[in-house]
This record gives sequence, C-alpha cells and structure tokens, in this order.
Amino acid sequence: MKIKILKDYNELSYTVADIVEEQIKREPISRFILPTGSTPHGLYKELVSRELDWGAVMTYNLDVYIMNPNHSQSYQTFMKENLFNKINIYPTNCQFPDRNVQSYEQRLKGIPADLCILGIGTNGHIAFNEPGSSFDSETRVVDLNEQTIEDNSRFFDSVDDVPKQAITMGLKTIMKSKKIVLIANGVHKYKILNVAMNGGITEKVPASILQKHNNVEVFYCD
Ligand code: F6R
Repeated sequence: MKIKILKDYNELSYTVADIVEEQIKREPISRFILPTGSTPHGLYKELVSRELDWGAVMTYNLDVYIMNPNHSQSYQTFMKENLFNKINIYPTNCQFPDRNVQSYEQRLKGIPADLCILGIGTNGHIAFNEPGSSFDSETRVVDLNEQTIEDNSRFFDSVDDVPKQAITMGLKTIMKSKKIVLIANGVHKYKILNVAMNGGITEKVPASILQKHNNVEVFYCD
C-alpha cells in the first residue's frame, strides 16, 4: 500500500483537513469516526480555523479510557478542548463509546461512517485494538498492553496513572467505514507503518487489516 510522505506536520494536518472539508461540503449530513492522541492535534486546529458548518455532522470517537470523563486526560475532555467546544457541532451529535457497547455498535451499524480518521500506535494498534485483536472484533472493553501504557504515560504524571483499560471500537466496525485515512507523525512510527501497510496481513499487527479496505489513504511525515 502506498504511504504518502508529506513535507511536514503542517502539510499532514491541512491535507487531512482538506479531506474533511470536502466531505462536509459535499454531504453536510456526514458521519465521522475520530481519533485522539498527539497526531490529530494539528488537524483539529486547522479544522477549527476553517469555520466549517458542523451543524448536521455526527461524530463517533474511536475509543475512551475507562476513567472519569471529566478528567483532564480523558478522551472526552481532549475532544471538547481541541475540537467540539470550538465548532458549531451539537454536543448530542458527538458520541463516545461507553459500557453499553452493544448500543454504540448499533449506532454505527445502521449507516457506515463516511470517513474514519485513524492514528497508529507503535505496536501497530488502531483505536485500542492491540496486537492479537480479532479482525472480527466489535466495540468492547479491552486491557491496554504494556507498550501502549508506556507510550501514553507522557500525558500523565506517572506511568501508574495511565488507565489500564479502555473501550474501543472494533476492527470490523472500523472497516465498515466508506473511507479511511490513517495519519502518522514521527520517525518512531515509520517502521510499524511500513510493516502494517506492506507486510503480511495478520492480527499480530492490527493496522494491517487496512490492506483489505478499498478506500484507504495513508499519510506520514517525519
Ligand atoms: C486514540 C487512538 C490511538 C492513537 C494511537 C496513536 O484515539 O485511537 O490508536 O491514534 O495510539 O497515538 P498518538 O497520535 O498519540 O501517537
């Protein structure tokens, strides 16, 4: 699979913002699946600056930590601070997985998302589908693996403060999206990105499932 290498983080952010903008303008009633983490920061900043009409958009987040949603490091807080509080989206149109996993799954099953934006973990995870996750997986509670806890400890005072569990959208659910865009930033991501896109398709590398999707774009910058 082709990995499009972009000049820098700015280009990565506005290239993906262009795709989102084009989707909203073409179909104002659009459904997006969205990530958190450090990679989409620039994308969300760029989207906020474009003053698009989000009035009929529905969003579904990929995952949440199992923790107080009002905590400063919760994914609900992240989305509010970086995007939702700064655009004209209806709070009720911003959905997050919760313990009622069947209900979240049903909401996504009816109509596939128009666009799913993904980051990738250094262990090849997408959302919190860690290595070994079934390609048939749906929304569920998962244990985070050691690598992910270590990687995400940079957002917390100590590694012990990182939540050990999360609720994640499954790989099967992600694959139902009409279009998928994967973004990765930093040399530490290149090796796993290349393995996932050009190596074998295996549950050991969850992102490798994307090779089976017919409408995926992958963007990388150093
Ligand atoms: C977060 C998510 C994760 C991240 C991945 C990369 O909602 O779905 O899969 O995309 O862990 O995180 P960053 O961007 O922080 O390197």
